[in-house]
Amino acid sequence: MGSQGSSLEALNRWVDDVARLTEPASVVWCDGSDAEYARLVETMLASGDLLPLNEKTNPRSYLHRSHPSDVARVEHLTFVCTPEQDDAGPNNHWMAPAEAHAKIDALFEGAMRGRTMYVIPYCMGPIDSPIARCGVEITDSPYVVANMRIMTRMGAPALARIEREGRFVKGLHSTGDLDPERRFIMHFPDELAIKSIGSGYGGNALLGKKCHALRIASHQARREGWLAEHMLIVGIENPKGEKHYIAAAFPSACGKTNLAMLIPTEGYREAGWKVWTVGDDICWMTPGEDGRLWAINPEAGYFGVAPGTGANTNPAALETLGHDAIFTNTAVTADGRPWWEGLGEGEPKTDWQGRPFDAANGPAAHPNSRFTVSARQCPSWAPESEDAAGVPISAIVFGGRRPSLVPLVFEAKDWAHGVLVGAAMGSETTAAATGAVGVLRRDSMAMKPFCGYNFADYFAHWLSFDKPGAKLPRIFHVNWFRKDADGRFMWPGYGENLRVLDWMIQRVEGLAKGEDTPIGIVPAAGELNTDGLAIAPATVDDLLHVDIDGWVEELNHIGLYLDTYGPRMPERLKAERQRVSDA
Ligand code: GTP
Ligand code: MN
Ligand code: MN
Repeated sequence: MGSQGSSLEALNRWVDDVARLTEPASVVWCDGSDAEYARLVETMLASGDLLPLNEKTNPRSYLHRSHPSDVARVEHLTFVCTPEQDDAGPNNHWMAPAEAHAKIDALFEGAMRGRTMYVIPYCMGPIDSPIARCGVEITDSPYVVANMRIMTRMGAPALARIEREGRFVKGLHSTGDLDPERRFIMHFPDELAIKSIGSGYGGNALLGKKCHALRIASHQARREGWLAEHMLIVGIENPKGEKHYIAAAFPSACGKTNLAMLIPTEGYREAGWKVWTVGDDICWMTPGEDGRLWAINPEAGYFGVAPGTGANTNPAALETLGHDAIFTNTAVTADGRPWWEGLGEGEPKTDWQGRPFDAANGPAAHPNSRFTVSARQCPSWAPESEDAAGVPISAIVFGGRRPSLVPLVFEAKDWAHGVLVGAAMGSETTAAATGAVGVLRRDSMAMKPFCGYNFADYFAHWLSFDKPGAKLPRIFHVNWFRKDADGRFMWPGYGENLRVLDWMIQRVEGLAKGEDTPIGIVPAAGELNTDGLAIAPATVDDLLHVDIDGWVEELNHIGLYLDTYGPRMPERLKAERQRVSDA
């Protein structure tokens, strides 16, 4: 017996306790089968939780409209509840665990009355992967169950693994009454527990994703010696058939899904280059016996932003969405097809709230409207996404929206320098987003909203991977978003970004010498492939130029930012900043 019997006993006891607290009308254990999914869809079509779409153009696809006050992640209501406030760090909202439990349990009292309580065992990552981890989400939302089925490996195999391992993350969710005053998303990393109430929106309610796979997992990863990151994973196959895997962290809405599904431009396609998608949002990496970092995508689907996804920007995503997809808060055309700004065809008849479309009401699709779809439907889906060992990472890339100063690409001198480059990562806001133009928001490793512990400890954890025997990936920084004096993007981006990845791979393989600069290594003259590139050579030079005066100022800002984390900030990182500053 031992841990085997006790693991499901612990799960059963927790499910009983939750049922006593929330008082559902019935309890359903989810097995993840096709028949179960079909039943859920029937139930939701009957209740109006799902609306049918055009079965001819979008087979087995549905629209969900969330409450208009419940359309995004709520960072100000998201808490990390460690016993010591310092362990959550200035990068998180904190509440003492006892207070948090008391506060949220009071809201869960009777919260599921008259509803069905679903118990969802799930696995983040390939079911037989040692890097994967399991969880169980309890929810009263059938929409959450349907989305979890697409986004995770859910059901019987996950339950069997939980029984074997005896360890799982406990996630409790109820839609509650959707009153923003009674909405909280709380994380208890020491208890491997999450409690979320008052929201049905993806990031707050699909607890496997940001709550488990980033906030709880980052905490676990620190303890166990691995990394849980807000990164895409993409495989680049050169004409010789060799594959390199690249992991990249960009803040939300800075192009992870786009880069993960990159379609090579003509020259590269004809030369035989191929791009394979392993993941578009989250990456778990662990050192292998060979000293390299091996990575899995813990997710099984994409929960992507719909607006801006069009035939010009991301044709692979559009193809992925052709069938068996759930759309949330998009508009609908007269013939029942989903529609959003930037789709590039058709026109909206009904907006995201179900009203007849009227431009006076704002965009037809909510700017944060989403699609949920299985990763396997992506034309560039990499079969090795299912490999238990994961894929070996050759390069890590950081990046953000930097209209000025930051070159198209540079490589860190070594791991510690790379950690500094990631810690200093930022994105400049636009007038459209905040009203304040050119304000730089630091978002270290794109993890500001998702790191489940003190950023200073997180940087120290990153630094700790540099030890004897380690064969770490090279670290790069990219910037697709430099603008000229007229405010136009200087770099064409999208498919053309493969030119930059090509240079990175040449560096990894020792084929490009690069040019040393005080901030790192940039492509030497002629190393970046510009054959058939539709921009002037002078613009390419500008994009690769390192402006020393500007960087002196930037490094001062980075110093002030690192200081906000106080005495826990590793000396090694401060010394690294000083070294670059002096260079
Ligand atoms: P989350 O899924 O929210 O974590 O964000 P993400 O990083 O996946 O963002 P996504 O790929 O959805 O970002 C899309 C936005 O970035 C759109 O506005 C795109 O037009 C823009 N974008 C993506 N790649 C490029 C590029 O190479 N150049 C330019 N100029 N814009 C790009
Ligand atoms: Mn994305
Ligand atoms: Mn994301």
